[in-house]
Amino acid sequence: MAGKATLYWDYIKLEELLSLQTGVEPDESELENDEVMFITIHQIDELWFKLAIRELVRVRNLFAQEKVREQSLSDAVRGIRRTALLFDQVAHHFRLMETMTTRDYLGFRDKLSPASGFQSAQLREIEILMGLKVDDRIPLGHDNSYLRALRYPDGRPSPASQRVEARLKDVPTLLEAINEWLHRTPIQGSTPEQEGDTENVRRFVENYLKAQAIEAEEAMILVRDSAPGEADRRRIEERYKQERIKAREFLLAEEVPEEDRPRVARVRAALLFIESYRELPLLAWPREVLDGLVELEQAFVIFRQRHARMVERVIGRRTGTGGSAGVDYLEQTALRYRVFRELWAVRTLMIRKTALPPLRGPDVYGFVAKE
Ligand code: HEM
Repeated sequence: MAGKATLYWDYIKLEELLSLQTGVEPDESELENDEVMFITIHQIDELWFKLAIRELVRVRNLFAQEKVREQSLSDAVRGIRRTALLFDQVAHHFRLMETMTTRDYLGFRDKLSPASGFQSAQLREIEILMGLKVDDRIPLGHDNSYLRALRYPDGRPSPASQRVEARLKDVPTLLEAINEWLHRTPIQGSTPEQEGDTENVRRFVENYLKAQAIEAEEAMILVRDSAPGEADRRRIEERYKQERIKAREFLLAEEVPEEDRPRVARVRAALLFIESYRELPLLAWPREVLDGLVELEQAFVIFRQRHARMVERVIGRRTGTGGSAGVDYLEQTALRYRVFRELWAVRTLMIRKTALPPLRGPDVYGFVAKE
């Protein structure tokens, strides 16, 4: 049966799409190419953000299940990697923006004031969905919280503020869902519901720390013995000593409130375990998930840094149209906004394969010993 023929321009709503680049003018005939490009890049980037949100929701939903099937992990990895690529695309557009000179941008900048990327609800949604904590947010330096900036100037809710407020209620965050999943990881063959699990995990951590101390000592001697003076040698010894202390504090989760400590410590031990014994069949995909998340966060941080460099090139260090300290504010976000901190932290602690504590209960991980 012949259906209605779908036409390209109808399917992608081309005419509507091409009529949306007018900014505050009735049509674009009066606009310079710079301004049309400025609007278009922002629109494309918001569309990439839209796709990123869809991917992140799907991945979060997958990990929020009580039982995450091994088979679904490759799907999750694809979603995570796609999101990282979306951020690469956005960062790449900044090159195009840099074809605009400072003077040309200043020609239309006042039209958009006080509009600002600071009002991008979708970027906030992405941060919230990933799990950025409110306390980690950098204050704007005046009364405006990030939520206030999304409302209309008279304080009424806007579509942007409603979007973000709805996202705040959409829990768990990706970070929480991932941590919940990590918490269930068998460590040295031991699972959380098993009797003696706390002791088993603690034993793994202590053995790991011992192995790590030996590795660090060897590395320290190499660096120290080639240092030019006594003061340098002492400084190097002290630095390695601090690394050892911090490794222990991290793995025992000493900085978190006592009631949360066993849970956080188990998640950290799981991260270390997966990264360390990643050749085991059952750990291969979890390890890809972790690597994908690092890739995603790295792409996000590079997007922030790249944006800051582009902004510095186009407007220097002046105050932003959103009233922030401009480049200084953006640089702070690139430096401080991290969600998967523990995934990064574990990398500092890792040691060579040959130095790892012996594996216990390998059959739990689908490991088949060689004949
Ligand atoms: C000439 C081009 C651009 C300039 C001069 C510029 C400038 C700025 C400045 C100064 C801020 C800090 C907030 C403020 O006080 O306004 C900011 C924030 C922001 N901009 Fe841009 N921007 C440009 C292009 C873009 C593009 C193409 C995007 C596309 C994604 C973008 C997305 C954002 C976002 C999401 C924020 C909020 C960042 C945060 O709060 O973490 N900007 N921009």
